[in-house]
Amino acid sequence: MSQAPHRAILISHNGGPEVLQMTEQDSRKPRADEVRVRVLASGVNFVDIYQRTGLYQAPLPYVPGGEMCGVVEALGKNVSEFSVGELVASATAGSGCYAEVVNVAADRLVKVPRGLEPRTVAGMMLKGLTAHYLLRQVYRVGAEDTILIHAAAGGVGQIMVQWAKALGATVIGTVGSAGKAKLARALGCDLVIDYSRQDFVKAVKKFTQGEGVPVVYDSVGAATFPASLDCLQRFGLFVSFGNASGPVPPFSPALLAQKGSLFMTRPTLFDFVRTPAQLRAAASELFKVVKQGKVRVTVSEAYPLADAARAQADLEARRTTGSIVLVP
Ligand SMILES: NC(=O)c1ccc[n+]([C@@H]2O[C@H](COP(=O)([O-])OP(=O)(O)OC[C@H]3O[C@@H](n4cnc5c(N)ncnc54)[C@H](OP(=O)(O)O)[C@@H]3O)[C@@H](O)[C@H]2O)c1
Repeated sequence: MSQAPHRAILISHNGGPEVLQMTEQDSRKPRADEVRVRVLASGVNFVDIYQRTGLYQAPLPYVPGGEMCGVVEALGKNVSEFSVGELVASATAGSGCYAEVVNVAADRLVKVPRGLEPRTVAGMMLKGLTAHYLLRQVYRVGAEDTILIHAAAGGVGQIMVQWAKALGATVIGTVGSAGKAKLARALGCDLVIDYSRQDFVKAVKKFTQGEGVPVVYDSVGAATFPASLDCLQRFGLFVSFGNASGPVPPFSPALLAQKGSLFMTRPTLFDFVRTPAQLRAAASELFKVVKQGKVRVTVSEAYPLADAARAQADLEARRTTGSIVLVP
């Protein structure tokens, strides 16, 4: 049975931001294991751009967005852990969040603790859970570590810098402009490198007395490869977790030997929050650091849902800092 129609952004074919089109859709009843959520804000992420352009596959047509915060409006018949009126959030809904209403599988939802602003929550779920697995699971960052985080003033970057500082690490952050450098410094970076003007390998080597760092977190991709490998100490870990400038080109594993018996991983959030228990444990860690004030999530702009194309264009063109959200 369908309900009152709602507005949603639809992508019918791959392309530039102009393929994000506002539509009216019939709201349907949630399936047995789903929850229908009235969206208060949805997060805009680089993964949404990869899917729009076709770099990552998404079945067409689809409503983009996996990250949102909203209020429970209806429950599928098998759902007992949520109640109508409750504030909930998702990071890995898969799709559907660029809308006024979305049906989300209950096992992809978390309850939002009191005291958190819905827009802030929409801007921190996917990015914050990513920061969590990168800093706590892929490599366990501690006070003895000096680490390199690329795109430190971005959505994931801002959360990572603050969280790594809270863990006691020394943090080197790269950024693409003077304005972003100021932001990264204010977030707590011990060294900020403007890689649009400086050689970041040289700067990292100088800061670490020629030693290099044990881990590089690289979401920039093509533009920082293979230079990121040269920032690592022997046996260091290259974490390639994004392609903002394009994918890392194919290379021979022998390169890792030449550069000091390095390790490399190419992780994705979905594997780290695959089960509801993993998702809820990670979300609870994230909510804790935010509520304690160790990590401040900045939503630098809230765009009307109708301006989804402008929001993605701004993110893609490096005009944004921190998180950006859409408000229906
Ligand atoms: N694997 C995972 O599990 C996972 C999960 C979430 C996000 N990610 C990745 O994490 C990264 C950050 O995501 P986000 O949504 O928070 O975006 P973001 O960091 O806010 O934006 C991307 C930033 O990358 C930098 N950049 C460098 N070269 C670029 C280029 N040629 N074009 C565009 N940007 C460029 C820009 O910062 P500067 O101007 O300072 O260089 C830009 O602001 C993305 O690569 C995303 O795919 C991965």
